[in-house]
Amino acid sequence: MDLELLAALRTDEGSAALAAAAEVAGGDPLAAATALRSRGVPPALASAALTQADLRIRAAAKFGAAGASMVFTRAGLEQATRAVVADRRAARLRAAGVETLADLGCGLGSDALAAARQGIKVYAVDADPLTAALASANAEAAGLAHLVTVECADATSVPVEQFDAVFADPARRRAGRGRLMDPRSWSPPWDFISALPGRVPRTVLKLAPGIDHALLPPGAEGEWVSVDGDLVEAAFWCGPLAEFARRAILLPSGAELTGSGVEAAPVGPVGAYLYDPDPAVVRSHLVAEFAASIGGRIADPEIAYVYTDTPADTVFGRRLEITDVLPFSLKRLRILLRERGVGRLEIRKRGSALEPEQLRRDLRLSGSAGASLVLTRVAGAPTVLLCR
Ligand SMILES: C[S@@+](CC[C@H](N)C(=O)[O-])C[C@H]1O[C@@H](n2cnc3c(N)ncnc32)[C@H](O)[C@@H]1O
Repeated sequence: MDLELLAALRTDEGSAALAAAAEVAGGDPLAAATALRSRGVPPALASAALTQADLRIRAAAKFGAAGASMVFTRAGLEQATRAVVADRRAARLRAAGVETLADLGCGLGSDALAAARQGIKVYAVDADPLTAALASANAEAAGLAHLVTVECADATSVPVEQFDAVFADPARRRAGRGRLMDPRSWSPPWDFISALPGRVPRTVLKLAPGIDHALLPPGAEGEWVSVDGDLVEAAFWCGPLAEFARRAILLPSGAELTGSGVEAAPVGPVGAYLYDPDPAVVRSHLVAEFAASIGGRIADPEIAYVYTDTPADTVFGRRLEITDVLPFSLKRLRILLRERGVGRLEIRKRGSALEPEQLRRDLRLSGSAGASLVLTRVAGAPTVLLCR
């Protein structure tokens, strides 16, 4: 899509094409294109409307029903913050007294719109003209244009000091190069991003969940967020916005675990129950805090599985009941699983180089019972835990 087609989509003729595309999207693309053309929609507009209809279907996972009136590019949708994450961040900014926000590299506007929904006035910029135009259209479609000003500009030119707070979500992918691991190759680059807290104390940076803790600005809070158990992002909350050293947030429930991120969990024997912590807990280095919350321990100083002797209820990890503990041996494991009639096996691992799918084949399972198998290390030794 280009700016001209976006403008065409926003006319009455474009709206009609979008409505027609929504009726036929999701099926055979050729039949859908033919259906639109038979209604007299010009080919370029038909193609743009069908792409939007397809992207709107995909966008439902991130934006729910609101996605049905937004406009997207494929890359913009991939990079956009899920509404549930953006809304929580915006609510926290509002609760911290933020009334004006600069959003540097706003993309399609997910974070900007969430802030505006909280009543925050947003000045959003994106260096890409089409992306900026999409953000502007999305603000209008959401009825938030009075709170969101979008401009096509380079983030480095924004006088950020004029705002209560600044938010930056740098582009960490590049066409043809995939994910960029080195923060210096992000756009805007890390030297600009990391200097923001020095200019605007209330700075929030959205980063890849694999970000190195060593990059946290002094005194900032590192927060890791999961949605339905999938780790989706890290955010650095700087200056007066920092409340704890580390935080793990599990969405959509909003359950939070906080702590120092440097505590070591007590080490002891394997217990009757194993807990596989949520990835946000592991990445935020809050396994010790999680273990303390359930009176648990780890069985290897390097491995983030937590054990207890009695069952504890927790939202921060998945609990399994351990039935057998054995040193790793393919032969012994095969015999045990045969004895138990296990034909369906869920395999989890931490601290094991074994390839689960290869192991599954090697085990030649037969039987109708289900079980979970955990491949791990206990006090350094390769160990298998059979679990219910
Ligand atoms: C990860 S996306 C932002 C996604 C956004 N937070 C959302 O939820 O929709 C990063 C955006 O930064 C923009 N960008 C990259 N470098 C920039 C720069 N120097 N100035 C302004 N925008 C930039 C890209 O065009 C891209 O749209």
